[in-house]
Amino acid sequence: MTNHLIESQQLNKEHIMKLFKRANELRAFPSNSLKGKILTTLFYEPSTRTRLSFESAMLKMGGQVMGTENAKEFSSAAKGESLEDSIRVIASYSDAIVMRHNETGSATRAAKVSPVPIINGGDGKGQHPTQALLDIYTIYREFGRLDNLKIAMVGDLASGRTVRSLCYLLGKFSGIEIIFVSPENLKIGEDIKEYLGRHNIQFQEKDNLEEVLPEVDIIYMTRIQKERISLENYEKAKGKFVINSLNIPLLQKDSRIMHPLPHIEEIKLSVEIENNDSRVAYFRQAENGLYIRMALLEEMILG
Ligand code: CP
Repeated sequence: MTNHLIESQQLNKEHIMKLFKRANELRAFPSNSLKGKILTTLFYEPSTRTRLSFESAMLKMGGQVMGTENAKEFSSAAKGESLEDSIRVIASYSDAIVMRHNETGSATRAAKVSPVPIINGGDGKGQHPTQALLDIYTIYREFGRLDNLKIAMVGDLASGRTVRSLCYLLGKFSGIEIIFVSPENLKIGEDIKEYLGRHNIQFQEKDNLEEVLPEVDIIYMTRIQKERISLENYEKAKGKFVINSLNIPLLQKDSRIMHPLPHIEEIKLSVEIENNDSRVAYFRQAENGLYIRMALLEEMILG
């Protein structure tokens, strides 16, 4: 059966640790193991990190890349071709496909018809499993552990697929406490709360960021997803929770600020602070995505 990565729940602890080990090896000793293989990046929504880090990962491992960064306009989707038809054709040209799409469930639809691995690079408000993987790889590198951590997740928790995928992965570890901080109109979904409850992960919901900052090991900021909500909901939520030079001193000295990026008004720190305060981890986080995606591509393409 073809090996696809559609949702975080597919990954277990042992598999995650194996990927971390391989990512560390590839960081130190680059490999040409994907020479002769072709990756297609099929993106129906904008991306900087996911698409380019997958492409860089493939090229660094000796493979080749083709694709479209605007499949809605530049693929035959614009002529009305179904996703299922596009995937079956593209699969005949490729050894794996990374896909980002605006519809939740689109990656599952693609996987159902694809004879080559489909990697979900974000499906609407659904999931973004490789982001969650690079997030916990970053946590592991920064803290040396994935157990016994207190994490605040802040921002648009209703539409943010990175938070959903991260919660599913954190549910596999122990001693995790999560504090959700979101505008009243963009709270975390009941399905995530139910999952965390079932996996004995303690969580609470708060609405005072300044109260939460001193308590946590990690503050995981997210952007308000303007493109997925009404203008009215966006106006209600924007600028409500912001990390800036006034409240960053409230964080413990060994805590970390993470963000899947891109960040907009929810992080207002100068380039100088971002470059010199070691608590700012989000650029290291983005770089870690390259190595974990190298490990993942190798595993999924070579089996
Ligand atoms: N974090 C993330 O998915 O970034 P991009 O939208 O730039 O790919």
